[in-house]
Amino acid sequence: MKVLVVGGGAREHAIVDALLCGGAEVYCFMPMVNPGIKKAAKGYAIGKLDDNASVVELATKNDIKLAVIGPEAPLEAGMADELEKAGIGCVGPTRELAQLETSKGFTRNLLRKYNIDASPKFRIFDKNNIGGAEAFLNELGRYVVKPDGLTGGKGVKVLGEHLQTKGEALAYCSKVLETHKSVIVEEKLEGEEFSLQTLTDGNSFLHFPPVQDHKRAFENDTGANTGGMGSYSDANLLLPFLTEGDVEAAKKTTEQVSAAIKQELGSYKGVIYGGFIKTSSGIKLIEYNARFGDPEAMNVLPLLKTNFVEICKAVVEGKLSGVSAEFDNKATVCKYVVPQGYPENPKAGKITVPTDTKALIYYASVDEKDGGIWTTNSRGVAFVGMGDTIGEAEQIAEDAASKVTGAVYHRRDIGTKELVQKRVEHIRQITGGNDA
Ligand code: AMP
Ligand code: GLY
Repeated sequence: MKVLVVGGGAREHAIVDALLCGGAEVYCFMPMVNPGIKKAAKGYAIGKLDDNASVVELATKNDIKLAVIGPEAPLEAGMADELEKAGIGCVGPTRELAQLETSKGFTRNLLRKYNIDASPKFRIFDKNNIGGAEAFLNELGRYVVKPDGLTGGKGVKVLGEHLQTKGEALAYCSKVLETHKSVIVEEKLEGEEFSLQTLTDGNSFLHFPPVQDHKRAFENDTGANTGGMGSYSDANLLLPFLTEGDVEAAKKTTEQVSAAIKQELGSYKGVIYGGFIKTSSGIKLIEYNARFGDPEAMNVLPLLKTNFVEICKAVVEGKLSGVSAEFDNKATVCKYVVPQGYPENPKAGKITVPTDTKALIYYASVDEKDGGIWTTNSRGVAFVGMGDTIGEAEQIAEDAASKVTGAVYHRRDIGTKELVQKRVEHIRQITGGNDA
């Protein structure tokens, strides 16, 4: 079966590998040549991620009937709509349904309308009611300010981190309204975040194991926010700070949201990836994304024992209820190697990538030129270790990441016992130990 993958990062490299594993002949549309995908794919084209016409052309020219969209940009550009019009089934929602990610206001309102109890206190302000923002900030005391729209993960400002005073918060609200139709002010939640990625055909659900990402650039969660420096999952398909009940609560929220959006706009076919947080008052929703996470896709796709091509087919055909997914009971740790200076001032340079490693290697933003691999201005290469314990997986990922030569860095602490234990302690503190 021929399958088209849209996107050229490490997430898409992992998607391509999973499809190949399922016996597909893979074609890829990507913004630059990903050396891993180039090697694995039968064919590829280079272009902008919102160039729907070129993607439809690549698919029709090669008689492809199934596509998987990796990143959010093509979803927002309505690529799924165009592919479907051309008779190509798409794992990835239409532009309207992708509002689950592209409009945080849409999603908060959806949860409110359908009484899905997973949001923090929030209010949405526009130019007409912004006068009420100060009183709401006073009421909340601790708050977060978010633009209502895609910002590449960089638009959210949190009190105590990016905002120190109410004045700064109000100024940021006004600044957001210069470029966005609305701004969301919400209660700041305290706890541990985790990602739950779910594939759905609009009726049935395939939940992947939960994963924890690390957004900060440097060890001990310091430095700027990034696209994600690495992530881990556990062999029991939970996380060390989560109970089965916690994961069930997150699954239930996603299933309710899928039912709600179906009522509003129709069946959602693709990935619903919830950013959840475990707090002293239960599992809350930070945001939804309409795609797999990057790096979280690299943790869960290699664990899949069920044929991923069959799963994708079932999603587009509305037959996911007939698929029961199985996962390897292995822990995974993913570590991203990134250019020095990333994310603020990345410096591209030549690197060497180890081949004598037990880790899985997923290329992200790199160029293959002059007989070598060069970093660009974003994350470079991801290494995934798999093992019976998080510690074992960490050693494999760390060993590979530390062998990369060139002007790069990675977070050595991701997946280490010390850091994982800190998360567990944090939850123990905020739940007062009542968390079995
Ligand atoms: P988002 O783009 O909505 O995922 O937000 C980016 C990051 O901001 C999240 O991963 C959280 O660390 C933080 N964040 C967003 N909303 C909240 C909230 N209500 N409380 C605490 N932290 C938040
Ligand atoms: N892991 C962050 C993201 O994919 O948005």
